[in-house]
Amino acid sequence: MDVIPLNAGFGAEIAGLDLSSPLDATTMETLHAVWIARGVILLRGQALEPADQVAFSRRLGELEPPPASEAGTREELGGQPIWYISNVMEDGRAIGSLGNAEAEWHTDMSYLAEPPSASVLYAREVPASGGNTSFCDMAGVLEALPGDLRGTIEGRMLRHDASMTSAGELRRGAQAVSDVRATQGAVHPMVRTHPENGRQSLYLGRRTNAYIEGLDVSDSEALLDALWAFVRDPRFAWEHVWRAGDLLVWDNRCLMHRRDSFDAGARRIMLRTQVKGDRPR
Ligand SMILES: [Fe+2]
Repeated sequence: MDVIPLNAGFGAEIAGLDLSSPLDATTMETLHAVWIARGVILLRGQALEPADQVAFSRRLGELEPPPASEAGTREELGGQPIWYISNVMEDGRAIGSLGNAEAEWHTDMSYLAEPPSASVLYAREVPASGGNTSFCDMAGVLEALPGDLRGTIEGRMLRHDASMTSAGELRRGAQAVSDVRATQGAVHPMVRTHPENGRQSLYLGRRTNAYIEGLDVSDSEALLDALWAFVRDPRFAWEHVWRAGDLLVWDNRCLMHRRDSFDAGARRIMLRTQVKGDRPR
């Protein structure tokens, strides 16, 4: 296997591996180490059945089941912990989640008490253009914060919202938030330490309905806006242009991601698994 860094800061392509059959223990260990060191790994040219993706993902840890809104939506997945991210319609209904709209910067399911460590996304069909996924290096963002801004978040806790998807839709069965102080979702430290490599990262989840505990709402909003300006600075980002057969594994503990919109008439079919993580600390 060859490891090719994706840019100066983070990310690596791993070439020469076929995930449709089990990797030996040494190869898996190396892959895991590259993933921890680089935050996101890309394996191109894969031809995977859902069961192959589930088996590979299980090597990274216990799997997190799909969000309730996605569970059991596709019969061919046979109740396995894997689901579709897709805009494709069948029988008048989307076969997966998130449609074709932009998905704003976020880290996956940070509203859980124990959010997923790894997310695994496999491209079965992609549009000719659009739908790119970008990643933001949150350890890099934390290091770049001016001292006074860093000082204001030290020891602070952030409330993460469970009600909205990254595409800005209210989840099925969720209540719309009218007061961010009463948002339903987990409360996590704003600076977290990676349990496997000890690096610190800014941990923001998503912007909508976020609230910094103990502050007036207006102060919380102003501080969050100042922090989010760094997330939106392209110098911390790497953008992936998908090809069918690509598989990405990213680390939600130190990266955020977003997705561009794409043509509503184009087909995009992605399969998603995720690995259970620990309580952020
Ligand atoms: Fe996501």
